[in-house]
Amino acid sequence: MSKILVTGGAGYIGSHTVVELKNAGYQPIIVDDFSNSQESALAGIESILGTAVPIYRIDCGDEAALRGVFEAEKDIKGVIHFAAFKAVGESVARPLDYFRNNVGSLLTLLAVMPDFGVENLVFSSSCTVYGIPDALPVTEATPTKPASSPYGRTKQMCEEIVHDVSAAPTNTLRTILLRYFNPIGAHESAKIGELPLGVPNNLVPFITQTAAGIREKLTIYGNDYDTPDGTNVRDYIHVVDLAKAHIVAVQRLLDRKASEPVETFNVGTGRGNSVLEVVHAFEQASGQKLNYSIGPRRPGDVPAIYADATKAATVLGFKTETSLADSLASSWKWQQTLAKK
Ligand code: UD1
Repeated sequence: MSKILVTGGAGYIGSHTVVELKNAGYQPIIVDDFSNSQESALAGIESILGTAVPIYRIDCGDEAALRGVFEAEKDIKGVIHFAAFKAVGESVARPLDYFRNNVGSLLTLLAVMPDFGVENLVFSSSCTVYGIPDALPVTEATPTKPASSPYGRTKQMCEEIVHDVSAAPTNTLRTILLRYFNPIGAHESAKIGELPLGVPNNLVPFITQTAAGIREKLTIYGNDYDTPDGTNVRDYIHVVDLAKAHIVAVQRLLDRKASEPVETFNVGTGRGNSVLEVVHAFEQASGQKLNYSIGPRRPGDVPAIYADATKAATVLGFKTETSLADSLASSWKWQQTLAKK
């Protein structure tokens, strides 16, 4: 069983990826400092898998501690690097924290990996690197635009750092950059899912908390955009589908099939849905009427973005399997499970 280090493995996407890795025959090793995740995710993972996954409670930016993990585990074959802060608004308020954490942890990893002969990296990037695109859908060749937040800038910088490191004459690193669109939903068991701390920033947890009576109502941030119904358009991908893209990427690196030192893939469904469509799809999937109203635009929001998912399909053989309705139903099941706890 090849050992794969998963930084941020107790987080939302990380926890689902740990489960899929194990199911695919890998041995995931989690590194997480629980700054934006919860210990309960570990119990969920263990309950789904029927076995515990090794966990190191360290900050991935702590070089000595990270070295300790590689030393203890000895034969790590690859790294999936999720550990990062991800709230757009918070990144505007605390830019230094974002640069230090998101860029710093990648730099630390890249410094440590070669000393242990670890050459394979899957990096969590984001469609945010495209900024406001000129044309839709976006392909991997769509030029990146200035990011609308420090968070977005950290993802752009991390991609550039990986490219520069890989261009060095002595480089042996091979990386797959996965540009995620909007992950939603939860594991079918409802044992792991998104655990937003405090008031959620993201649409779907805000919707499910409103339906559960935790929030009074959802505010839709603007209905005067140049989109079919005036609300923002995004590409919502089920988190388990997204997790599976990492398994395919890791396998490609271990099989030495990557055609370049750095490969980039969009990971989305290829479908764009408006905020209103998501609200109505949620109402149908859950049978709940949602209290919502239209409010002002949220600064920094991109009017519309969705993936051209062709490259992931043709090169990786990766396709999403879950519909928007089923994704939202799984979010609702997860919310109801949380309410019972
Ligand atoms: C953004 C980034 C994404 C990043 C994510 C992290 C872009 C295009 N995407 O996603 O890369 O990983 O932040 O959090 O920059 N909405 C409401 N009311 C709410 C909440 C959201 O109307 O209470 C709307 C937003 O205006 C947006 C959509 O719902 O149109 C999705 O918002 P959200 O879930 O926050 O994700 P993004 O901002 O798309």
